[in-house]
Amino acid sequence: MQKLSITGGSPLRGEVRISGAKNAALPIMCAALLSDGDLRLSNMPDLHDIATMRKLLAQMGVTVASGEGELTLGGANVNKLEAPYDMVKTMRASVLVLGPLVARFGEARVSLPGGCAIGSRPVDLHIKGLQAMGAEIHIEHGYIHARAKRLQGARIFFDIVSVTGTENLMMAAALADGVTVLENAAREPEVVDLADCLRAMGADISGDGTETVTIRGVEKLHGASHRIMPDRIESGTFLVAAAATGGAITLTGTRADLLETVLEKLTEAGAVITAEADRIHLEMRARPKSVNVRTAPHPAFPTDMQAQFMALNAVADGTAMVVETIFENRFMHVQELRRLGAQIDVEGNTCVVRGVERLEGATVMATDLRASACLVIAGLVAQGETVIDRIYHLDRGYEHIEHKLSQLGAKIQRIS
Ligand code: UD1
Repeated sequence: MQKLSITGGSPLRGEVRISGAKNAALPIMCAALLSDGDLRLSNMPDLHDIATMRKLLAQMGVTVASGEGELTLGGANVNKLEAPYDMVKTMRASVLVLGPLVARFGEARVSLPGGCAIGSRPVDLHIKGLQAMGAEIHIEHGYIHARAKRLQGARIFFDIVSVTGTENLMMAAALADGVTVLENAAREPEVVDLADCLRAMGADISGDGTETVTIRGVEKLHGASHRIMPDRIESGTFLVAAAATGGAITLTGTRADLLETVLEKLTEAGAVITAEADRIHLEMRARPKSVNVRTAPHPAFPTDMQAQFMALNAVADGTAMVVETIFENRFMHVQELRRLGAQIDVEGNTCVVRGVERLEGATVMATDLRASACLVIAGLVAQGETVIDRIYHLDRGYEHIEHKLSQLGAKIQRIS
């Protein structure tokens, strides 16, 4: 099993190019199921989750052709309307094939995702939404089996804001008969990127990026070209790493408007940030100050940045409260941070982080994607060597992370 070895203490300095967003690319790839035309995607990140989604779509009969950062998906010969357990259990985002399949083919069999490291994460809202649109749904042998002659437009209210739930139903509604209104929809920029792609395919969608999304179903969608938005979580992760190590870095190929709350928090921590067009520059001239963080749906602070800010607070001057309101079990990085000398108390969904002057290298275990990023940041700051085990989590969502960090002066290498 591969590990990362990091020798901490070098401030990150230099320029790094941000990749396309995993969480935009995954739903957009599923949109290829909605038409028999070719969907040409650019700025595609080279990630394990993207490879898994390619494999899943190819199994269904989608044609796949790829070049450097490019992917063309063709939905003309889809012949298997199923997402098997083996795929869904490794990547929950596989559930995003459900809406497109029922909408275009009137049938789908998609494995229920099991529990995952950061909580139970059900898909009941996806199912209820499709039922409201007229789909008949049975859960049999661990699979969601959905059928509908043609989905009907409906008014759907989300009890909880769900990103992939919104995306699944938006794709389903694009080919439904009539108007669908999604209330309390997710406002994440990745939802907007998907809507942009669907519009390029001929869909009629408005209100994306607000809590009410209106979709007027059309008979047919066609092929299109779309450029995947920059990864705001990768951007944020590099910025926090630079801030924690007292460095100065410039991100290219990113967008500051995707990162408002994160940039605000970093500024509060003492970072000097300037942003222009597709670049963000951050410089940290002193020890970071503690910053309180409370996760909530966009535009509030993203849960996918919570773990990285925990690492920053671990070495900051002062005491911070970190409150996680989206997932019930997303503090597994805390125990590992403690192994490096962090002082963190957990009570329910709240952590109290007392910043320490220094962390010390140790062997730690990555438990999920963003927890892994937190441990990388902690390793970059800690004195001596930190070895991070189970880094396959990291490869799911960060493109060539050790190369990008080495380029910024980090002492990091992959070991077997
Ligand atoms: C997406 C992101 C993930 C991010 C999360 C929250 C992708 C591929 N993944 O995950 O990186 O951490 O948004 O920003 O885009 N819930 C239900 N029932 C449902 C659906 C969700 O109870 O049917 C709950 C979840 O358990 C969770 C909350 O709603 O507590 C939000 O989850 P959701 O937004 O759906 O997360 P994902 O879309 O899976």
